Amino acid sequence: MATKVQVKLGERAYSIAIGCALPSLVSVENAQGHRAMIVSDSTVDPLYGAACQNRLEARGVVCQRVIVPAGEATKSLQWVEFLYSKAAEAGLDRSSILVALGGGMVGDLVGFVAATYLRGIRFVQMPTTLLAMVDSSVGGKTGINLSQGKNLVGAFYQPMEVEADLDRLQTLPRREYVSGLAEIVKYGVIWDASLFHLLEKHADELLARDPVLLEKVVARCCEIKAEVVAIDEREIGPRAILNFGHTLGHALEKVDGYGQWLHGEAVAIGMCYAARLSVAVEGFAAEEADRIRNLLLKFGLPVGVSGDRRASWPLLRQAMGADKKTVRNRLRFVLAKKLGSVVIGCEPGDDKLEEIWNVCCQ
Ligand code: NAD
Ligand code: GLY
Repeated sequence: MATKVQVKLGERAYSIAIGCALPSLVSVENAQGHRAMIVSDSTVDPLYGAACQNRLEARGVVCQRVIVPAGEATKSLQWVEFLYSKAAEAGLDRSSILVALGGGMVGDLVGFVAATYLRGIRFVQMPTTLLAMVDSSVGGKTGINLSQGKNLVGAFYQPMEVEADLDRLQTLPRREYVSGLAEIVKYGVIWDASLFHLLEKHADELLARDPVLLEKVVARCCEIKAEVVAIDEREIGPRAILNFGHTLGHALEKVDGYGQWLHGEAVAIGMCYAARLSVAVEGFAAEEADRIRNLLLKFGLPVGVSGDRRASWPLLRQAMGADKKTVRNRLRFVLAKKLGSVVIGCEPGDDKLEEIWNVCCQ
């Protein structure tokens, strides 16, 4: 039995199914008799592509598979164009369905193609990484990278459903899995202190990918994201809380070169930084900042950088200023008030930002 979470967005509402060996697409009746194109990457397709295709075909869906290279470089205009051509060759029409079977890279790319091909066709997210299950497959952010930066072109475009089959996590490399845990910690910090406590208590079982615990935790993260997105789909305001730890995290990814850090690893360092800033300027309790650090450490995530990184501050500061969410170079942070509660739009000032960076370089 799967856990279902609803994303309440009026006529764009959809459900997320979370569980093991999910029996079928949640709303397969919407797909029967239509065409579908399953897009996956070169690592995921050999693992799950055929089973996914068989399942759809058994339900009367006319289905084909397309494979793109694994890796962030595929989230590009070139591969968008490739998928447009494949969709046209396959005769996909407005009633057809694109299926994104993969991690956040595939989800963002296919979501963007779905948003723009024929001015928008239906798509299903089938996330296969932990990060994609708890974050990127939910909420409708789709997009691709330019040589000038990540996610610079995109659209808000909601899937028709999300199917998070936890069995697929068993093949995920440990480093990728652990990276996804960072986003889970984030939900505890920004929204739900009891989730944070549960993670502290059951960190070992979560590291062991215990399916019962995973279902509970992934579902809770999806509930939180669904709630935030329902309040502010297009990130006019409160959705920004999802960026806790991401301001420095994104800058680290950029300055150190994409591929050096996995996203969750950079976010883990960014969350420790944000937690320390919160202690300095928002009255966040130092013991709670320590709890965040200790939990990330327990998961095997990085919580800082080496001492010789002090000198990289100007580059990081510049990268943070260039972030697409920055307004007139004023750095705004999401900071914690207490576990489970954050505030957006904090401007700690440059001296404080550098001082806390130096603390993170030990
Ligand atoms: P990814 O999609 O690149 O997957 C990571 C690696 O794991 C890839 O090599 C992939 O082939 C492999 N893989 C995936 N599932 C597997 C499985 N079940 N078994 C074995 N290997 C598997 O990376 P990701 O971390 O899932 O996503 C990162 C992307 O998500 C970035 O492009 C980022 O910008 C984007 N993102 C988007 C949002 C959003 O809201 N749209 C949020 C966060 C991140
Ligand atoms: N990953 C952040 C968001 O969806 O807003």
